[in-house]
Amino acid sequence: MPLVFRSLLFGFLTLLVVLLIVDDVAEVEKESANIGLSKKTNVHQLVPPHRKAASDADPTVTTNIPNDVNRHGPSCNGTAAKHSPSSWTFNKTLSNLIRKNVLRFLDPERDISILKGTLKPGDIVHYVFDRQSTTNISEDLYRLLPTASPMKNQYHRRCAIVGNSGILLNSSCGPEIDSHDFVIRCNLAPVEEYSQDVGRRTNLVTMNPSVVQRAFQDLVSDEWKERFLQRLRNLSGSVLWIPAFMAKGGEERVEWALRLIRVHTVDVRTAFPSLRLLHAVRGYWLTNNVHIKRPTTGLLMYTMATRFCEEIHLYGFWPFPLGPHGRPVKYHYYDTLKYQYTSSSSPHTMPLEFRTLSTLHRQGALRLHTGHCDLDRGPQRDLS
Ligand SMILES: *[C@@H]1O[C@H](CO)[C@@H](O)[C@H](O)[C@H]1NC(C)=O
Ligand SMILES: *[C@@H]1O[C@H](CO)[C@@H](O)[C@H](O)[C@H]1NC(C)=O
Ligand SMILES: *[C@@H]1O[C@H](CO)[C@@H](O)[C@H](O)[C@H]1NC(C)=O
Ligand SMILES: *[C@@H]1O[C@H](CO)[C@@H](O)[C@H](O)[C@H]1NC(C)=O
Ligand SMILES: *[C@@H]1O[C@H](CO)[C@@H](O)[C@H](O)[C@H]1NC(C)=O
Repeated sequence: MPLVFRSLLFGFLTLLVVLLIVDDVAEVEKESANIGLSKKTNVHQLVPPHRKAASDADPTVTTNIPNDVNRHGPSCNGTAAKHSPSSWTFNKTLSNLIRKNVLRFLDPERDISILKGTLKPGDIVHYVFDRQSTTNISEDLYRLLPTASPMKNQYHRRCAIVGNSGILLNSSCGPEIDSHDFVIRCNLAPVEEYSQDVGRRTNLVTMNPSVVQRAFQDLVSDEWKERFLQRLRNLSGSVLWIPAFMAKGGEERVEWALRLIRVHTVDVRTAFPSLRLLHAVRGYWLTNNVHIKRPTTGLLMYTMATRFCEEIHLYGFWPFPLGPHGRPVKYHYYDTLKYQYTSSSSPHTMPLEFRTLSTLHRQGALRLHTGHCDLDRGPQRDLS
């Protein structure tokens, strides 16, 4: 026990030192004073101040989404984002700049997966968030490690990253989402039953080990195994991205999933994020003054997509219990899970992430879609 305690203390002190180096104290104080992101943080340090001032004055965009929705309750209604489609233009210069800066922290092409050459069966891996705990590289996992990056030499003009917020329900965004060149989804979210709103196309989908438990009942029966297999088979050819070494606890679930994939020769391209990915992504945002605890899958995907995509469109990102028009919004579009980010035990800081993405939306670096998709207008394809 004392060893554990000492390690924890050491980890904490290291973190503290990093934070102090990265921040100046004034910024930290402003953070806790809950000031709107656009004034507080410099999401892109290279964005000139006059540009930010102009976007602050735009009444159609997000300002001041509260830090703690619990505390502010329904007052987040009215401050919510209305991402007016007409007011958004893609800023290619900024987007290129962000790609360059992200590359200083990680190379998404490489960090998206551990490759076969770097590990062998029986190797011991420390979990990223539970350093004391280890797991062994199994034969199945080894077999399913890619030999080359699944994103090698890929570059797409328009990508969609689909979050799982209930904001997608009744959005009719399915066709628009599917019109993108590359579609990224999170946590093996179901699509068939919701395709009108979320689309079907999937080029990359993430799967946290907990999904096997939560959405597929730990594969307890043949029926659940079959459902799980069916979901995987429907991915035919896509990348299945499994953060297997993040936190202790999921190793059995990962093994079951991998065995099914091998035994049934499911046509997915498995990928396992590098051990340094999360810290690198967090480091990138920290140096841009965004103090996230642990990035969500959505933010991870955005950060990595900057490498592979010219224009990035986000759908289904909405971490608030009320929508832009004050209507209740489900946490996930497909289940009954409740909001957790308000609890201090949650590792994620979703409202902060959302404010950050909103700022980037205003600056034209990415596009956040939070409303209904206008089928008549169709997606904007007129940008060159
Ligand atoms: C695009 O972003 C760059 C870099 O932040 C900035 O200098 C430029 O003014 C922006 N362009 C427009 C049209 O906003
Ligand atoms: C992991 O590998 C080590 C060394 O090969 C072995 O002693 C240990 O039993 C393995 N643990 C598990 C859970 O397989
Ligand atoms: C979606 O629309 C249907 C039919 O109009 C309605 O019953 C349902 O409550 C709506 N769901 C949401 C989340 O708005
Ligand atoms: C897989 O695709 C088929 C055909 O599109 C569909 O009927 C089925 O519901 C899908 N299954 C899952 C689990 O998504
Ligand atoms: C939310 O705001 C809209 C208009 O902005 C208003 O019509 C609605 O009544 C508000 N809802 C709540 C719960 O405050």
